[in-house]
Formats: sequence, structure tokens, C-alpha cells
Amino acid sequence: MVEEEFVVEPMRVEQLDQVRRIERACFPTPWPRNAYRREIEKNERAHYLVVRTTSESAQEPQRQFPLSIFPFGRSGPRDVVGYCGVWVMLDEAHITTIAVDPDYRRLGLGQLLIIQMARIALQARATRMTLEVRMSNEHAQALYRKYGFSDGGVRPRYYSDDFEDALIMRSEELKSPGFAERMDAGEEELRRRVRWTTRL
Ligand SMILES: CC(C)(COP(=O)(O)OP(=O)(O)OC[C@H]1O[C@@H](n2cnc3c(N)ncnc32)[C@H](O)[C@@H]1OP(=O)(O)O)[C@@H](O)C(=O)NCCC(=O)NCCS
Repeated sequence: MVEEEFVVEPMRVEQLDQVRRIERACFPTPWPRNAYRREIEKNERAHYLVVRTTSESAQEPQRQFPLSIFPFGRSGPRDVVGYCGVWVMLDEAHITTIAVDPDYRRLGLGQLLIIQMARIALQARATRMTLEVRMSNEHAQALYRKYGFSDGGVRPRYYSDDFEDALIMRSEELKSPGFAERMDAGEEELRRRVRWTTRL
């Protein structure tokens, strides 16, 4: 069991610098800051979440530039360790993004975010979750397969930076007993691996 505790909560604009730090570490073409701001403030169909550590050292303000000519310039805490987003459009919940800080991977936080998005999708009466993932991204595909997503086709040359194809993946019917069992088993497994709560 990992010592740190984690909270999942809605993403806030004040957290965007932290989100973008993780995004730059994870994706070749990060979204512009304004895209996130628009999603959070204007898109009623969008639900963006962060997972953050509650460990005290992460709450302390960080110096923005160690050798800065503004020695007292500080940014906020550095506690966000992962984030995700889902758009709920009628019966479909489309996962737009998910990423975990490279220093916090393989703890179960990716699963935690998937489960919370599935709960949101269910509440909004969506019947399935979908997403696109790079053909070469086997780690992310393994995460989705663990939650019952299966292949739903290919979008050729989908990614603008290198024109890699995207694999479309679809969850099982969210209301099916199989999916509910997967969620419950996933939560139980996670409770053995990490301490976490939600503020959703
Ligand atoms: C994909 C990603 C979000 C997974 O986050 P994570 O917190 O490390 O994932 P978890 O610890 O919850 O892993 C869940 C399951 O996914 C699979 N998985 C995750 N990372 C894996 C890896 N490096 N190798 C093999 N399987 C992996 C495993 O089945 C794992 O279950 P297990 O730990 O019981 O074996 C993370 O690797 C990441 O941020 N990648 C970069 C961004 C990205 O590719 N996002 C997806 C865009 S579509």
C-alpha cells in the first residue's frame, strides 16, 4: 500500500499550470491552456477531473524559478498527479484525455480516473464509453482492456503530429451486470493498493 493519500475532484482553473506540466510530460502536442479553460468554464457536457496527493510536502508552495531575479516569486502547490476528461453526449460518454504523472504511474491512479468517469457517465445516463488511442500506445490500451473496452475500428492518420492511426475503443454496456462487476472489483482492488477519496 502506497503511503500517500489521493483525492479525485473536479478540475479547477487554478490547477491548469499543473495539468499542463503533466500534459507536456505525456503528449507530443499538448492542448493550449485556453482549451482547458473553455472546457471547464463553458462546455456543459464536459467533466474534467484531477487526482491529487494530499501529502503535506506537495501542498507547500513551490519556488517558481530557483535562480529567479524575483526570489519571492512562488507558484501554488504541486499536488496534481493525474487528470482526465469526458464529454457526455446523449447516450455516449467520450473520454477526451487521461494522463498520470510519470512519477505516479502503476499505482492504480489511471484506473481510479476511469472508474470515476464511468460513474459520471452512468449518472448522466450514458450507455457506453468510447475513446481514441494511438495504435502504438499499448500501456493505455491495456488499461482500457482491463475495464472491458474492446476495439471498435480505426481512424486512419488521426494524429496531426505524425499521422499515426487511432484505435477506437468502446466499453461494454454501462448498465450491464458485467460492467458493474468490473467497476466494483476495480474499486475493491484499488482500496487494497492506494488510499483515496472523491469530492465529486
Ligand atoms: C495510460 C496511463 C494513464 C495509465 O496510468 P497508470 O496510473 O499508470 O495506470 P494504472 O496504474 O491504473 O494501471 C492500470 C492497468 O493498466 C495497465 N497498464 C498501465 N500501465 C502499464 C504499463 N506500463 N505496462 C503494462 N500495462 C500497463 C495494466 O493492466 C494496469 O493494471 P495492473 O497494474 O493491475 O497491471 C499512463 O500510462 C499515462 O499517463 N500515459 C501517458 C498518457 C496516455 O498515453 N494517455 C492515454 C491517451 S489515450
